[in-house]
Amino acid sequence: MNASSDLALDLAALTAKLGALSTAFDIRWVEECASTNSALLDAPLGNDGRSHVLVAAHQSAGRGRRGRQWLSWPGASLTFSVLWHFAPDAPAPAGLSLAVGLVLARALEKLGISAVRLKWPNDVLVHGRKLAGVLVEVLPERERAITVVIGIGLNLRLPADAMIPESDGVTDLFRELGEPPTRETLLAAILSELHPMLTTYASTGFGLLRNAWQQRNAFAGLPVRVSGEGLDVVGFCQGVDEEGVLLVRGDEGLCRVYAGDVSLRSMP
Ligand code: ATP
Ligand code: BTN
Repeated sequence: MNASSDLALDLAALTAKLGALSTAFDIRWVEECASTNSALLDAPLGNDGRSHVLVAAHQSAGRGRRGRQWLSWPGASLTFSVLWHFAPDAPAPAGLSLAVGLVLARALEKLGISAVRLKWPNDVLVHGRKLAGVLVEVLPERERAITVVIGIGLNLRLPADAMIPESDGVTDLFRELGEPPTRETLLAAILSELHPMLTTYASTGFGLLRNAWQQRNAFAGLPVRVSGEGLDVVGFCQGVDEEGVLLVRGDEGLCRVYAGDVSLRSMP
């Protein structure tokens, strides 16, 4: 860690912005690591009642779903992960990446972005372009208690020559807002939404969050194709059920799609 770096996170400012909620988190910052998700998965901190957060100014090997890359540039993105311990009787984490997408949408809306949409299961889009992604990974169970690592990557101001392969379009906060908020402001806004959302999820699962997710569904009622894992479904996107399972109405009726090795794409 290099505390004198321009890329250093101002932990005092972040703590002030979080107010009373700051005691719920243990927030650390590194200038560079391979992946904040990998760092927390490889060396998970014990449950001291707080949620451990690792922020990296730069990731050299950021990960998306299905072994894909999440690309970032120093100072151009907010990349961080949160370790969260669920009690043994908590609902399954299957709908968690949708819930976290909703967290990001609400935080971004409060910061002035009005057109935030969610693409099942883990993308945050603005004007059809990907602004942020969520990667939820589950640690091996200990005494039936489930611990998850929630990784979030959000573009602040991508370099003009940024090349992002296999992408249908990307955006950043500079493009959407003119001037992006500081990482401290953004992180405080996200963590302030995340904490109550995770508490709700721990007691009731995704069900109570479903309507709010549906309202922001990027493909609501639109023709889509879901493919992967031997599946190829074409139909109209009907949103998600109480567990976050994708619903697509095709020629053969309503198809339920579980988030796995499948991709959702809009159809022309
Ligand atoms: P799906 O989740 O529907 O399968 P996806 O293309 O969103 O499709 P993910 O695994 O969620 O795939 O995300 C990884 C993809 O995100 C990469 O393949 C790349 O296209 C895109 N990507 C990588 N870095 C960034 C970034 N900084 N901003 C926006 N998109 C990015
Ligand atoms: C996706 O769109 O597939 C998810 C992207 C998630 C990226 C974040 S950045 C912080 C954390 N560390 C990683 O390696 N990935 C997540």
